[in-house]
Amino acid sequence: MEDIFEKANGTLEEIKIAIAANAEEAEQFRIKYLGSKGVLKELFGFMGKLPNEQKKEYGQLMNTLKSTAEQKLEEFKSAFENSSNVPKHDLDLTAPGYQYPLGTRHPLAIVRNKMIEIFSHVGFQVAEGPEIEDDWHNFTALNLPEDHPARDMQDTFFLTDDKKWLLRTHTSSVQIRVMQNQKPPMKYIFPGRVFRNETITARAHCTFHQVEGLYIDENVSFADLKQTMFYFAQEMFGRNVEVRFRPSFFPFTEPSAEMDISCFVCGGSGCPVCKHSGWVEIGGCGMVDPAVLENCNIDAKKYSGYAFGMGIERITMLKYQINDLRLFFQNDIRFLKQFESAV
Ligand code: DAH
Repeated sequence: MEDIFEKANGTLEEIKIAIAANAEEAEQFRIKYLGSKGVLKELFGFMGKLPNEQKKEYGQLMNTLKSTAEQKLEEFKSAFENSSNVPKHDLDLTAPGYQYPLGTRHPLAIVRNKMIEIFSHVGFQVAEGPEIEDDWHNFTALNLPEDHPARDMQDTFFLTDDKKWLLRTHTSSVQIRVMQNQKPPMKYIFPGRVFRNETITARAHCTFHQVEGLYIDENVSFADLKQTMFYFAQEMFGRNVEVRFRPSFFPFTEPSAEMDISCFVCGGSGCPVCKHSGWVEIGGCGMVDPAVLENCNIDAKKYSGYAFGMGIERITMLKYQINDLRLFFQNDIRFLKQFESAV
């Protein structure tokens, strides 16, 4: 008869340490111990086999067993009744998530992207060319023959002693590459990095960025150029800006002009940004010189076109009122994080 007591005591220990991870496991517990064919039912059944003097003790043990099992089942039920099958734990699923710091775009990238967007709305496509150029694409084809004094305007980094290879001094070289490879009409902008052998100061750097524009078709006129530049200036700096063109000289355009916009900071009345002139310069432009078209085998009698070139650093400095160009290249996080978030 000892083994009946042993079995009952073993079951009591089992019940005491039982756990249920969800409502389903709680139900399994109920069926196993308290169900109509459960362990307790079986143990109660042994009562009749016991000698009378052991019945009292066994009866008490069975009562303890039953109440312990029922109490355990209550515990399980209250743990799962509000949360169906979700186990109880300390994790608060409604708490706000961790904020991971996001990077910001570089201000030059913001302005370059904006320029691409503005020009793409009026039909310009984007093309790129190499940073290492030959003399012909960077100078000669752009109407700057070897002895031309205008070559001195751009201090060039030459890569070979014979001066045949160089780092491009402007993105105008990409005009030549595109005109050689395509047939009009063509309407492109060329954003890119350029290089000049200049002392680094607040206003000059040895590498900087330009956006070049080129439109070649039949009957393109200076009026088209002016309207496009006016549209660009308004999109970039606001509806109230005005543009003004001053006669200038570039070997690859005829006529050539320097383009100013009315100062968007003071509205033209004079301030430090426009050096009290009311106007700020944003780039050069003009009608593509027929000699340049002919260099690229485009019939200058049939086609005409305009070109323009703007410095991305210059436009960014104006737009965000940054007064030192070197800030763009120092990667100081305190400077960079002031600009629009990357998303
Ligand atoms: N390439 C000139 C520079 O770097 C800028 C320029 C002026 C480009 C007039 C043009 C243009 O296309 O028509 O200074």
